[in-house]
Amino acid sequence: MKLCAQKAVEEARERHLQMPEEKNGRIVTLANTDGKKYGGMTNKPVKEFKEFVEIASRPDANVLEIGAAYGTPYLMETFKKESMGHYTACELVGDQLRILATRIEELDPSKLSNLTLVEGPFPHKEVIDHLQEGGYDAVLASSVFHFLTEEEVVEAFKQVHRLLKPGGKLFAKMGTPYSGIMKPEAVQKAVEEIKKYLVRKTRPLPGFIENVRDRSRIKDSITDELTKELGITTDLHGFQFDKDVMKVFLESENFLVETCDYSPINLPPFKLDGREHLVVVAQKPN
Ligand SMILES: C[S@@+](CC[C@H](N)C(=O)[O-])C[C@H]1O[C@@H](n2cnc3c(N)ncnc32)[C@H](O)[C@@H]1O
Repeated sequence: MKLCAQKAVEEARERHLQMPEEKNGRIVTLANTDGKKYGGMTNKPVKEFKEFVEIASRPDANVLEIGAAYGTPYLMETFKKESMGHYTACELVGDQLRILATRIEELDPSKLSNLTLVEGPFPHKEVIDHLQEGGYDAVLASSVFHFLTEEEVVEAFKQVHRLLKPGGKLFAKMGTPYSGIMKPEAVQKAVEEIKKYLVRKTRPLPGFIENVRDRSRIKDSITDELTKELGITTDLHGFQFDKDVMKVFLESENFLVETCDYSPINLPPFKLDGREHLVVVAQKPN
């Protein structure tokens, strides 16, 4: 569903919607209508996504962010620039978009015309129908695709490819099996599935976890307080991305892979050896 940016501001004010306070570098996200929560919004930009902001700052640019939350550092930095293009923010939880709109209005009310808000789950039809095929110079998805199922992951990358202009770029960051929260036997199982995929190179992609809590080594230490702090629902399904799998998959989907590398989180309990996140920059060929 598309939200009118001006109406979103008015509704946020009427309902006194506010962004929660930052704690330990993250702002927990709001629950979806089904009560599920999808983690926190970070205030630490990833260096590989600097180029996304550069592209978004061109006056003729058209960019899309998936899982934009309350306005990520990338979005806010773009709107603070003197010049910028058009920015479409897609987000599962509509009230986060309403808060995002108030932040832009407070920054510069005239910039609301540079903003399109689309509420709903990417890559589902109700969202895709509001996006432009071949219309985007860049697409950003930071810490979103690891909440999808295998079918949705495959569809998400296909849709991103379809939505990008030729020469346009995808910037994405996802969770991995190596974040430190999984039981060692679950990581071992994941590694075996990955090895098999790298030989057969056909779907299903390895990485889907039916219930993250069941496979988590911190299962017993997930206290209510920790859950609240991390802003997660512990019975979520998840998808974990391996670098070699992603490289093979992205190339099979006709992306030119520029970056497909691990990066650290350093936010307990998500801390192992620097492979906590996978960062991807990939281009749709000209
Ligand atoms: C972990 S937060 C990351 C927020 C922000 N992108 C960042 O990097 O800080 C995940 C965000 O993605 C949203 N989200 C989850 N699944 C989504 C989907 N299928 N489509 C769009 N947004 C989604 C959640 O509501 C939440 O705001």
